This record gives sequence, C-alpha cells and structure tokens, in this order.
Amino acid sequence: MNFLSLIESKRDGQTLAPDQIEGFVREFTAGVIPDYQMAAMLMAIFFRGLTTAETTALTLAMRDSGDVLKLPRDQRPLVDKHSAGGIGDKVSLPLAPLLACLGFRVPMISGRGLGITGGTLDKLDSIPGFKTLLSAGKIVEQVQKTGCVICGQTDRMVPADKKIYALRDVSGTVPSIPLITASILSKKLAESLDALVLDVKFGSAAFMQTRTDARKLAKAMVALGNECGVNTRAMLTNMDTPLGRAAGNWLEVKESVACLEIGRADLLVSQAAQPVLRSTTAEGGQRGPADLLKLVLDCAAHLLVQTRKARSLVAARKQAADCLNSGAPRKKWDEMLVAQGADLGAFNKKLALDHTAPVVVELKAEKPGFVSKCDARLIGEVIRDLGGGRLTKESGINYDVGIDRLAKPGEAVQKNSILARIHAAGQSQAKSACARLRAAFEISARRTVPAPLVIEVISRSE
Ligand code: URA
Repeated sequence: MNFLSLIESKRDGQTLAPDQIEGFVREFTAGVIPDYQMAAMLMAIFFRGLTTAETTALTLAMRDSGDVLKLPRDQRPLVDKHSAGGIGDKVSLPLAPLLACLGFRVPMISGRGLGITGGTLDKLDSIPGFKTLLSAGKIVEQVQKTGCVICGQTDRMVPADKKIYALRDVSGTVPSIPLITASILSKKLAESLDALVLDVKFGSAAFMQTRTDARKLAKAMVALGNECGVNTRAMLTNMDTPLGRAAGNWLEVKESVACLEIGRADLLVSQAAQPVLRSTTAEGGQRGPADLLKLVLDCAAHLLVQTRKARSLVAARKQAADCLNSGAPRKKWDEMLVAQGADLGAFNKKLALDHTAPVVVELKAEKPGFVSKCDARLIGEVIRDLGGGRLTKESGINYDVGIDRLAKPGEAVQKNSILARIHAAGQSQAKSACARLRAAFEISARRTVPAPLVIEVISRSE
C-alpha cells in the first residue's frame, strides 16, 4: 500500500475508499506503517473530517483488528452503556448489576481515566482483590453465569484502537468527532451488543465543552451504532457539576453501593421531574445522590425500551426502580465482586469506614445562601492533584483521596455548613486542596434553579 498517497489525498480533502481505510488500519496494527505517518493521517482526518461511509469503514476495520466477543444465543439481550467521562461519573458501577437483575447480559468493557476524568477500572481497582484483567473466555463465562462483568479490554480486543488512541493522545488529535466515534463504537461493537445507551456529556469538565458539539458527537454515534446493527440511543447530560456527592476512586465505589441500597430509588421516582438533591444519610450527613440515581434509572429504562422489554419510558423507569428497591442488584453487586476475585470481607470492612485517606478536612461556607455553582472542572483538577488521577498514562493512583459530601447547586447552606470534605494523603495536600476548592463554589442570596441533568435524548428515529 502507498500510504503516503492516502495521507496526501486526505490532506487535500478527498474521500478514501473503505478498502483503503481497512488496509491502513490493518497495516498500522501490524506495525508496518510507522507512527509518524499514522500521526500525519490522524491530523489530516482531524482537519478534513471523515464522511459517514469513511467513519463506518474505520470503525469496522478497528473492531475487526482483534477478537470480537462470541456469546451464546440466549433470551437475555446483550446491552451496555458508554459514558464520555466526567467527574463523579460512577453510573456504570450500580448500573451493571441492576441491568443483570432486569434480565440483561452486560459485557461491560471499560477504560481508565486520563487527566481529570475518572475511569471505571481505576475505581474498581480500589476494591480489595478485584480483578479487572480477564481473558475473553472468562468474560463470556461470567456474563453467562452472573449476567454482568466490568473489566478491561483484553490485549486481543480492538488492538487498533489501543495503538491509534495512544498516538492521538500525543499528537493533539483526540477531539475529533469521527475519531472519537470510531474509537468508542469499535470497542462497543466488539462486545456483540443488541442495544447500547450512550451518555454524552457536555460542560466544564466534559470532553465536549458545548452542547452543540456533544449533540454532533451523539448524532454521529447513534447513526453509526444503528447502521452497524446495535440499537443505539444517546443522552446529552450536563457535566458542569460533578455527578453525585463524591468524586475520587474509593469514595465513588462507596457512593455506588449506597445507590444500590434498598429504599433509595423511591426518592428518585418522586423527584424525577425536578431532582433536587436533598436526601440525607442515616447519620444525617449530606449524601443522597438523586442525580446519580436518576441517570442510572434512565440508562436502564432506555435499554428496557430499546430491547422491547418495556413499552414506555415511564413504565420502564418504574420497572427499574422496583428492581433496585427489591435489593436484588445489591446482592448481584456482591456476586459480581466475588466472581472477579474480590475479598468480600475486606471490602465490607472498608465500606464501613468513614474514610480511608489519612487526613480529612472540611471546606465550610463563609456565608449563608444558596449554592449556585459547584464547578466540576476545578474539582476534577483538585482530585487529580491530590493523587486521585493521572497526569500521564504511567502515573500511579491514590485510590483513597477525593472529595465527598459535596453541596450541589440549588441547595441552601448556612454559614459554616460543609461545602465539601477533602480526603488527602497528608495535611499540606489537604490544606492546599481546601484553598483551591473554595473557588469551585459560589453562594448566592437567591436560589437559582439548577440546570437539568439530562437535556436531550437522541434515538435512531431522528
Ligand atoms: N473514549 C474513547 O474510548 N475514545 C475516545 O476517542 C474518546 C473517549
């Protein structure tokens, strides 16, 4: 293949044929095409874009660069959700066992965080003994037996994405709609799904900063997912404020388990129209992740409708909330943990602790009023700098650090009310995080109505 002429064609705005795209993906994965040439092609794609046919060819070539999961035919539909990432976004953790209890099979292949966005695998790594690296055989076995698995991609799944993503990361070509579409969907198509729900975030801490860009990305992914035979829907969700009241790996696992506890979904159903976050923990502390619950139930409800297991979203939400309230997903969570090697005794002991980081400090309101801002980007940066995220792919992670008891927009606070608790490795880190974090909050004399969490749903009929 004369790859140089393909780079020149794309640079000049021409359209590539599917077999040319398949060819260069195959040769790059095999190590025949050098990184510098592929980086040039990625930059040409970044500026010139890809047509729908080209994006489809790229996605399928990337999916076929490795093994595709082969699951036996079964009455239970194969489903998954993918999030474009954010701060405190732990939806996958409670969602996988909930979906398994609703009669789905969930081969949830997840990723790690980079920069300020958290990664599902990093969160799960904070569970004693839990294994996220499984063979394809084990993934299939667990999905069939337990109904759900959350793990990393095997070396043999979508290797083209691994190589291309690493190159995009260091060549300034990550925020390209066709490249993101191909990257995300190639991995999801390798799971052989029947239905997929996408959570495409926009806002200060999201990959797509504006609703317009998020909508473009969501539409491209929905069109392509459906064209490739997977019933795909996307929700556009706000990421100006963190999801839930906790961010940081272990703290998010804790909040996910709280989300699975019996009784909490009642709150959500009654607040579905306007989910103001007001619930409290048994100890009277601030915690109720009504926004988290809403998103978990919405994802489940869409998948129920997409697979015709429910006739309407209203009925589907009730079905999902009833299932959550039955306590079965909480048991399924434990079953999934045990299936993936976790030490349940050690996990439960850890869960009972208020904190696992050595130092916890409280950020307090300086005046009474209403929270009008809780900036996800700044909170994400502070957590990353506390050691909870990575600055490079090789960085280690401190699973215990983070922020909890976040006060959220729309909530009333008194002078000295807690705006957030900071979990840090030491006094000096805690002090500097506390000082930086104050700028993440604004308190106004009047209550402003918080922005809606889910602003739009894009489905295949559009
Ligand atoms: N997540 C992915 O898996 N790929 C992208 O390109 C962006 C986010």
